[in-house]
Amino acid sequence: MARLTGGKLGKLLMPDEAEEPILGRPVRAALLEWLTEIWAEDELTAVGLAARRRAIFHGAPGTGKTTLAHHLAARLGLPLAIIRPDDVVGRFMGTGITNVANIFNAIEQQEEPLVVFFDEFETIAQKRMTTGVNEAVEHDHNAMINALLARLDAYSGFIIAATNHAKLIDPAIWRRFEIQIELAVPGQGERERILARYLAPFALPKRELAGLAEALETAAPSLMRQLAEGLKRQIVVGPKADWPMDRDSVFARVIAASEPHPDLGKPRLWSLGAEDKAVKAITWPLRRAADLPAEIDLPPTPVDPSGVIPFRKARLTESAG
Ligand SMILES: Nc1ncnc2c1ncn2[C@@H]1O[C@H](COP(=O)(O)OP(=O)(O)OP(=O)(O)O)[C@@H](O)[C@H]1O
Ligand SMILES: [Mg+2]
Repeated sequence: MARLTGGKLGKLLMPDEAEEPILGRPVRAALLEWLTEIWAEDELTAVGLAARRRAIFHGAPGTGKTTLAHHLAARLGLPLAIIRPDDVVGRFMGTGITNVANIFNAIEQQEEPLVVFFDEFETIAQKRMTTGVNEAVEHDHNAMINALLARLDAYSGFIIAATNHAKLIDPAIWRRFEIQIELAVPGQGERERILARYLAPFALPKRELAGLAEALETAAPSLMRQLAEGLKRQIVVGPKADWPMDRDSVFARVIAASEPHPDLGKPRLWSLGAEDKAVKAITWPLRRAADLPAEIDLPPTPVDPSGVIPFRKARLTESAG
């Protein structure tokens, strides 16, 4: 894993390590709009505008904020520099402001352009406080927020912030992010495609896949990935460990092994377990995609022009040199 030069500030995710997230239409449209704008930088400059450079992604854990940021950076051909709260919020009073300065100094010294990603941004950018309960702490925090505002304003590169708690973010900081994208839990069509992706090289016939996806309403992509990969792991490891390998036992073990995030409500599969009708409908053992009859193939990829997001290098202005 590469690191930012000039300090132990965060890690770098490279473009070739990115995976393409399966996104709902609104997020896909917002992403395409932003990319198109960045690629049209020169034309925008000619009419006195600049492409927007700051976005905030908000949504529950596991909904794909980090994945989307990495993907977006990859689309621009840039590495993603992940800055975590521990890098900014010091353990001693008075260090927060210094860390903000250190981080932006380090970022601005980078020779290669990058996309900066502030993860768990609510921890850094919490609303300024005026309760007077602990004046020293409040003063220190508020000073850090002011420093952050100033450095955000002065920085001309790409910044993406991510948070599970949009409401906690300081409103002035929030306004600095010109693009706000909510990562909601996926709908039925996306759930089918997410399951199909992570079940590969196994596959479910269309009706079985749709049934399982329905039982996963309110599940985040991360939970679906855990389920699909849990099934595959069981199929490989279970027989070696002498575990019962009938369908219901395998599903029961996989479901018990992960827990939906409480903020998102419990998908039906976690209420009913292996008794769920979606599980009962699944032909067992799972088959490989190549062994499924053609007429019960995977769900078709939707034909949606906004879904086709081309790769193109960002034409960076000053910083690209
Ligand atoms: N839209 C998606 N399509 C396919 N896989 C996804 C999608 N979103 C998330 N995943 C998978 O789910 C897992 C969690 O995603 P990610 O870490 O991006 O979520 P997050 O919103 O950043 O979570 P957190 O709030 O915990 O940081 C990853 O393994 C990722 O591959
Ligand atoms: Mg994340």
